[in-house]
Amino acid sequence: MEVRQDKINFIVNDKASSLNQEELDAIQREICHYEDVRSIAVEALKIVQKNRGWISDKNLEDIAFALGISSCELEEIATFYSQIFRKPVGQNIIRFCDSVVCYINGYKKIQAALEKILMIIPGQTDVNGKFTLLPTCCLGKCDQGPVIMVNDDMYVSLLPEHIDCILEKY
Ligand code: FES
Repeated sequence: MEVRQDKINFIVNDKASSLNQEELDAIQREICHYEDVRSIAVEALKIVQKNRGWISDKNLEDIAFALGISSCELEEIATFYSQIFRKPVGQNIIRFCDSVVCYINGYKKIQAALEKILMIIPGQTDVNGKFTLLPTCCLGKCDQGPVIMVNDDMYVSLLPEHIDCILEKY
């Protein structure tokens, strides 16, 4: 699909847009690096999410408009990628691997420790808005499971008693 750069500029003049100039400029710059509009769509979502923490319905609509694709198509892309959040999340994202090797290595105990300390279940954010807990499929460190990631930081070979110390860093 051909990228319609004219749409990017047009939205700048739309006072109802939820996107700011900085976001539109960043999306415009990404267009130079990709041939496929679907790839740009993911980057555009990430740009806006980086600024705001999550993608609201209005943000999604305005990004779709800027890229010249339908909101439905962008919604499909947004929901396919687990890195894109369509609801508000905490300041820090904790992902625990619930795939088979980490299961064998005891991820359930790690999950239980996280749930107990944070008093939430997967998919929820703690009462302070500090952590969101999400299950994820294989973090690529299968030989060192159980594994969690907090934002971009990976923690491997975990025991339940490690969790308190890890969370204190954030
Ligand atoms: S199975 Fe857990 S990191 Fe791969």
